[in-house]
Amino acid sequence: MHFSPVQDLPVIFCALDTPDFERAGLLARQIGPVTGGLKLGLEFFNAQGPEGVLRVMEAAGDAALFLDLKFHDIPNTVAGAVRSICGRIKPAYLNVHASGGADMMRAAKEACAPGTKLLAVTILTSLDEEAIAQTGFHACLPERVEQLALLAKESGLDGVVCSAHEIALLRRACGPDFILMVPGIRPEGAEAGDQKRVMTPQSALEAGANHLVIGRPITGARDPAEAARGILAGLDRAA
Ligand code: C5P
Repeated sequence: MHFSPVQDLPVIFCALDTPDFERAGLLARQIGPVTGGLKLGLEFFNAQGPEGVLRVMEAAGDAALFLDLKFHDIPNTVAGAVRSICGRIKPAYLNVHASGGADMMRAAKEACAPGTKLLAVTILTSLDEEAIAQTGFHACLPERVEQLALLAKESGLDGVVCSAHEIALLRRACGPDFILMVPGIRPEGAEAGDQKRVMTPQSALEAGANHLVIGRPITGARDPAEAARGILAGLDRAA
């Protein structure tokens, strides 16, 4: 199957996981113009709110925003949350949990602004088979991810957040136009931390990812902009 991630840059969304406004602003200024994409999530949003998000993105040049809030509630509540976000912030990407079900995803999609792409989280990249079994789900992990991704597609979502280990499977199952946003990315030699299902940036792109989410390997470096440039320089984007 022909698939080129080059058509839909930016490739990397750098996760700014901090509650601190000054630190997020500094990182956004340093990293945004290099990667072209930034991700703000629960840690920052719950500390600084929508206003903080808007102000940080002002420092990031033209970088696209992935607002990783992972909504999971009844359809009416999630639709309301999506509407509130899209009325204020209009991120390039927003997400909900696929396990919230088809009705919830459809309601979220209907509430989404036209310029915002809605993704579904399949299974968190910090969970492995054992951790999932502890929550009472016994289907094998790839099967469950595929099932959730297909449900997201049928519900009208634009793509999913998935682990690198499921990229090839989902590209086959969901086709060339379904967006695969992939966290749990670790350049060669970087520490995995709490991520269990990791892959290098190049391998993830070769497998068919559209976008990579990379946090600590960039934000934890002495020079974050240089670390981001190093990762980009090592990518063969035509892979
Ligand atoms: O620092 P690191 O590269 O591990 O950051 C990964 C980011 O991606 C974190 O912000 C995490 O919340 C997010 N994420 C994830 N797994 C998912 C969805 C989002 O790691 N399934």
